[in-house]
Amino acid sequence: MPLTHLECTKCSRRYEPGQVLNLCECGGPLFARYNLERAAKNMRPGHLALREPTLWRYDDVLPVENPDHRISLGEGFTPLLSARRLGAKVGLPRLFVKDESGNPTGSFKARGLALAVSMAKALGATAVCLPSAGNAGSALGAYAARGGLKAHVFVPRDVPRVFLMETEAYGAEVVTVKGLISDAGKACAERAKQEGWYECATLKEPYRVEGKKTMGYELAEQMGWKLPDAILYPTGGGTGLIGMWKAFREMEVMGFVGPARPRMYAVQAEGCAPIVKAFAEGLEEAPLWENAQTLAHGLRVPKALGDFLILRALRESHGTAVAVSDAEIVQGVKDASATEGLFMAPEGGAAVAALRKLKSSGHLSPDDTVVVFNTGTGYKYVETLAPLW
Ligand SMILES: Cc1ncc(COP(=O)(O)O)c(C=O)c1O
Repeated sequence: MPLTHLECTKCSRRYEPGQVLNLCECGGPLFARYNLERAAKNMRPGHLALREPTLWRYDDVLPVENPDHRISLGEGFTPLLSARRLGAKVGLPRLFVKDESGNPTGSFKARGLALAVSMAKALGATAVCLPSAGNAGSALGAYAARGGLKAHVFVPRDVPRVFLMETEAYGAEVVTVKGLISDAGKACAERAKQEGWYECATLKEPYRVEGKKTMGYELAEQMGWKLPDAILYPTGGGTGLIGMWKAFREMEVMGFVGPARPRMYAVQAEGCAPIVKAFAEGLEEAPLWENAQTLAHGLRVPKALGDFLILRALRESHGTAVAVSDAEIVQGVKDASATEGLFMAPEGGAAVAALRKLKSSGHLSPDDTVVVFNTGTGYKYVETLAPLW
């Protein structure tokens, strides 16, 4: 059994697997822990090379025990593209884009929800729910449909229409909520409690982060088990960043990488930058950001449950957090499109825009191998981008 137990990220309390779990009693998110000694033997690079090109190639460090319980649409193992033309434009010749736009439902959210819905079903749930800025909701809808579960998605009222149509097409119930994703989160939690639904909100259940962490495993494998110098990651709830940080530690324990870590850079929008502010002020948690506003809806997260984990990873890695304006985000989308043929989601555009900023502030140098994450396709954001295009 690869999964041995779950452990609280705040108080280290241990929980047995095989039961529906959300947060620890102390309110901390739970992390899955594995028998890494056994996983290391199974995952030797020669063995891995023969495995399927999806995130399930890392199943020795994933919580789904029985392959029959996997609910999959072929997620993961996305391309790591060398981005020479974009790199030349921003003065970073060793630039790569990890392009998540080809995932099922068009974003990296597919990774987390493949794992969360598979585990929900394996643990006996018949209905799942979460609050979403759009992409997580459509991914939940798709995986729930594929697994025969009922999905309930709570979104802010201004979510682009494409997400409503897509998510409803998967047979999910979509509830629009006045306010931001935090308000949608409250409504979702209340209904989940009343109805007994399995709640899949970011870090409120332990398995979405396990799907996201596979981005870290892929990066290492695709780079010949040598991690890059720097990673730029668009950060809302931050599960991707937290997941990759967890993956690097697991890979070090298994002897796949050394103790050196990439510098982690969290990219946020100027209109919602709680992590940037908390980092600059030396805080361990990020206070709620009032009046959050940005066209990058995935970054409009005024309070992240895993803020302390994000801030810890940024500090331990000697990275930082940086904010970009909506105009810069749109320019980032245009730059990546024109130089590399990649029409990114605004969140990916934000990470591209941050390259210049981090270069001119001296955080990134031309000698660095830099990976920027494009977390989703731009196709769903045409109406969102139009006003500033
Ligand atoms: C395309 C895209 N990128 C980034 C994010 C932010 O992800 P996270 O909340 O895991 O930080 C989202 C969240 O909705 C998203 O849809």
